[in-house]
Amino acid sequence: MAGRHDFSNKVAIVTGGGRGIGRAIALGLAECGAKLVLASRTHEELDKVVNEIKENGGEATAVVTDLMVSEQIDKLVETAMQTYDRVDILINNSARSFMRPLMELREDGWDKIFGVNCKAVFLLSRAVAKIMSDLGGGRIVNITTVGAVRGGAGMGVYHASKAALSMLTKCMAVEWAPLNINVNAVGPGLTKTAFSQPIWSNPEVEQMMAGRIPKGRLAEPEEVVGAVLFLCSEDSNYITGGTIYVDGGSLANY
Ligand SMILES: NC(=O)c1ccc[n+]([C@@H]2O[C@H](COP(=O)([O-])OP(=O)(O)OC[C@H]3O[C@@H](n4cnc5c(N)ncnc54)[C@H](OP(=O)(O)O)[C@@H]3O)[C@@H](O)[C@H]2O)c1
Repeated sequence: MAGRHDFSNKVAIVTGGGRGIGRAIALGLAECGAKLVLASRTHEELDKVVNEIKENGGEATAVVTDLMVSEQIDKLVETAMQTYDRVDILINNSARSFMRPLMELREDGWDKIFGVNCKAVFLLSRAVAKIMSDLGGGRIVNITTVGAVRGGAGMGVYHASKAALSMLTKCMAVEWAPLNINVNAVGPGLTKTAFSQPIWSNPEVEQMMAGRIPKGRLAEPEEVVGAVLFLCSEDSNYITGGTIYVDGGSLANY
């Protein structure tokens, strides 16, 4: 599936590229020929994916980055430019979440979740959009969630941060369309990663959750990749400000 697109000579930054959905996206982009810059806080995970890409004949660099620290965001962009001299694609995939009823949520919990899921996306996208503008255009894909348009107990601040990210996607798309930068979102439903492990590690809970999904099961991380590659490709030249939900029919199931 990845082989349908040609991203040779393109450079892509993927945040959270060391595991889960971000890792799958990074491998998919690399399979299409893109050079990858992977960012997260965990060096070992990033190195593993970089090695995997290199073993398959691709090019990749790891930049340990805490997206809560704006200087580290600047350093990520600087390193990408020093290494490859361009950035064509940005995948804002990193996210924080924890189960906490709103009554019990501390202020620093709110700040951590909004900091990574929303503020960092703004800071990184703004820095990268300046480069893309000089290059004549680019693609930004923000990973949101079905929770951006659906309420739920226990993860209110996560849902709110992703709803804000959905609106940020639209506003960036509108402002940067004249720069030929397409900004879109991909919203996964429940996907089998460390993020959702509390659900799928308990067979009874997994079965209960899967029962609400028309496709009858959770997604695998690799199943989110096709939508992202499409939004990075020439096949989607006229699509900006949109969201593709990869949710097994969950949002259709009201
Ligand atoms: N799994 C699901 O069911 C599901 C459903 C809908 C949407 N999503 C979305 O899909 C995306 C990927 O999630 P996933 O399921 O693959 O989860 P995951 O395996 O937990 O990955 C989250 C990534 O975010 C990175 N991250 C967290 N805090 C960071 C920080 N301060 N600075 C830099 N990176 C940071 C993590 O790396 P470090 O901890 O090493 O920094 C990790 O690589 C997220 O945007 C999530 O909201 C997931």
